[in-house]
Amino acid sequence: MWNDNDFKGRVAVVTGGSDGLGFDFCRGLIEAGCTVYFCGRSVERGRHAEEKLGERARFVATDVCDAAQIQDLAREVGRLAGRVDYLVNNVANDDRIAFDTLTEEDCDMMWRTNLRPAILVTKAFLDLLRAGAGKAIVNIGTTNYMLGLSPFTTYNATKSGLVGFTRSLAHEIGPEGIRANMVCPGWVMTGKQLEKHVTEADKRELIEVQALKFLLEPEHITPAVMFLLSSGAAAITGQILVVDAGKVMY
Ligand SMILES: NC(=O)c1ccc[n+]([C@@H]2O[C@H](COP(=O)([O-])OP(=O)(O)OC[C@H]3O[C@@H](n4cnc5c(N)ncnc54)[C@H](OP(=O)(O)O)[C@@H]3O)[C@@H](O)[C@H]2O)c1
Repeated sequence: MWNDNDFKGRVAVVTGGSDGLGFDFCRGLIEAGCTVYFCGRSVERGRHAEEKLGERARFVATDVCDAAQIQDLAREVGRLAGRVDYLVNNVANDDRIAFDTLTEEDCDMMWRTNLRPAILVTKAFLDLLRAGAGKAIVNIGTTNYMLGLSPFTTYNATKSGLVGFTRSLAHEIGPEGIRANMVCPGWVMTGKQLEKHVTEADKRELIEVQALKFLLEPEHITPAVMFLLSSGAAAITGQILVVDAGKVMY
């Protein structure tokens, strides 16, 4: 696993940390000793999360769909922290869009939210990661594209694109000692999922098909992300770690 030195006094960046899984990644990293810079679009949500996360949480309002704002985020973190040890590319939009109704705008929005930011944020933070000691990146995927679930064609196209990005990135930056991996969660019972999507029948079905008979919570995903960031994973790069209570096995 990891030891105290992996996270104490270290600097992490989490995109989309004011809610959902990203909030829990921030919580886990802060509890382990990191200072965490996280972003989101809503200042109100971000400030509220910052208060809940405590004094080592730093919210920087940023829309990662906007390349100029990504540059501003990297500049601000560079100014305040001087380096980055860990980067978690977490932002995504999982809107359900039936393929037949898909518009050009939907298609662009999915690429601009789910894949383009992971590439541009990583590029913007590369020099800061070089200056850090942790030298690890985790991209957040999903098991959804492995299962070919619908109506998620464009979401899944972008998420499987993240696999190719992660693997090639691992090769390009590996010689510098920087690792890049991916965590693919199953369906997690975040506030938004419970409010907007999950039915009682869905819960029963998940329990039925999963090897482990409990519903996934954000706290189940965070330790996997932290492991891949930590020195415990020093020899692991370009990999996909599925965290889904045993639904997808391959
Ligand atoms: N929840 C699940 O069941 C599940 C399952 C598999 C994979 N995943 C993956 O896990 C990750 C997190 O999902 P989630 O369900 O926790 O998401 P979520 O509840 O929708 O939270 C998304 C976070 O990202 C921020 N955000 C959204 N768009 C942004 C943008 N353009 N720029 C900056 N911040 C932005 C949101 O804040 P603002 O709205 O204020 O910007 C919020 O803090 C995603 O990559 C998702 O694909 C989730």
